[in-house]
Amino acid sequence: MNILLTGGAGYIGSHTYCELIDKNHNVIILDNFSNSEKTVLKQLELIVKKPVEYIEGDILDFSLLKKTLSKYKVEAVIHFAGLKAVGESVNEPLRYYENNVAGTINLLKALDAAKVYKFVFSSSATVYGTPEYLPIDEEHPLNAINPYGRTKLQIETILKDFSCSNFDMKIAILRYFNPSGAHHSGLIGENPKGVPNNLVPYMMQVANHQLPFLKIYGDNYQTPDGSGIRDYIHVTDLALGHVKALHFLNSTQTPINIFNLGTGKGSSVLEVIQAFNKACGVSIPFKVEGKRDGDVAVCYAKNERAKKVLNWQPVFSLEDMIKSAWKFQQKNKIS
Ligand code: NAD
Ligand code: UD1
Repeated sequence: MNILLTGGAGYIGSHTYCELIDKNHNVIILDNFSNSEKTVLKQLELIVKKPVEYIEGDILDFSLLKKTLSKYKVEAVIHFAGLKAVGESVNEPLRYYENNVAGTINLLKALDAAKVYKFVFSSSATVYGTPEYLPIDEEHPLNAINPYGRTKLQIETILKDFSCSNFDMKIAILRYFNPSGAHHSGLIGENPKGVPNNLVPYMMQVANHQLPFLKIYGDNYQTPDGSGIRDYIHVTDLALGHVKALHFLNSTQTPINIFNLGTGKGSSVLEVIQAFNKACGVSIPFKVEGKRDGDVAVCYAKNERAKKVLNWQPVFSLEDMIKSAWKFQQKNKIS
């Protein structure tokens, strides 16, 4: 299949690229490199051992999208391009709505014009807001609590409405839990710009002595060890979920297909620290701080639908995630 990856140079897109090439798809990346580096493309070439086709461009550029879909005879789009920092979205909501929501509308208009009918969207467990029950299934009420989350929720609504107006359209909405880890080669991984917000990349920089200590945001949650619990999923398992979702869209008649992509298992912040000590032999200095605004105590997925319908099964452990993230960090001496 000829597949366009918007945001394909980013963290999850680049790992998905490798898995799609492995399954012999033709893949073209479109990215404006606002949150990624072109060096990723060279790394991808080392992994897949062939030239990477890419376009430097923006999903807000309608004529570029139209030209790209036609030139490469695109049959399916996986839409990763988006801004994703929660704090930034609070300070710059309009930039988030323009890039994420207007950008997606633009992309859908181009798809419609080019008669491209398969679409996979990167959504997030953030659309569920504060969990009302656990594990979180796809029917859980939706209640995003920050502008970033609301862009994801609005896009999901737009996709549902769009699918009702276009009966050929087959859409998969993938709600990721906490993507972590890196490619087994150590050549690509998560490399956030500035000080990381998320636990695993922050921890890697502490281990690398770029940051003095890890701040544990809260140790008196109603959890066994008092620290927050999340569902960390290896980025390669996540990437394989996209491949399965795409293949599924070839066979389904259902217009909208929503899947949680998580392991179904929660790990606490302290367990992640212990896993790092165990897997990499490095101890992480930490201090307990107050709870972070907007954080919930516990969040993990019910992933039965993805397992059953997509025939997808996450295989990597927390140790695998930590080890691979550390390999990437060391190999690339990220600063
Ligand atoms: P990322 O920032 O590493 O990748 C996104 C890529 O999109 C970047 O390469 C960036 O340059 C590009 N991009 C952004 N706006 C663009 C635009 N207007 N035009 C073209 N390219 C653009 O992020 P990621 O972690 O790989 O996330 C991919 C998607 O998954 C995002 O939509 C994100 O919201 C979603 N998601 C991520 C997580 C996570 O924890 N990483 C969790 C849930 C959902
Ligand atoms: C965060 C975002 C969420 C987004 C997701 C993926 C918030 C409130 N939520 O989720 O919207 O979809 O990232 O990008 O920002 N922790 C520490 N110290 C740190 C960092 C994190 O103790 O330095 C703790 C957190 O309190 C949490 C866990 O580690 O319990 C995981 O945090 P993080 O990696 O930021 O992910 P989420 O909070 O789940």
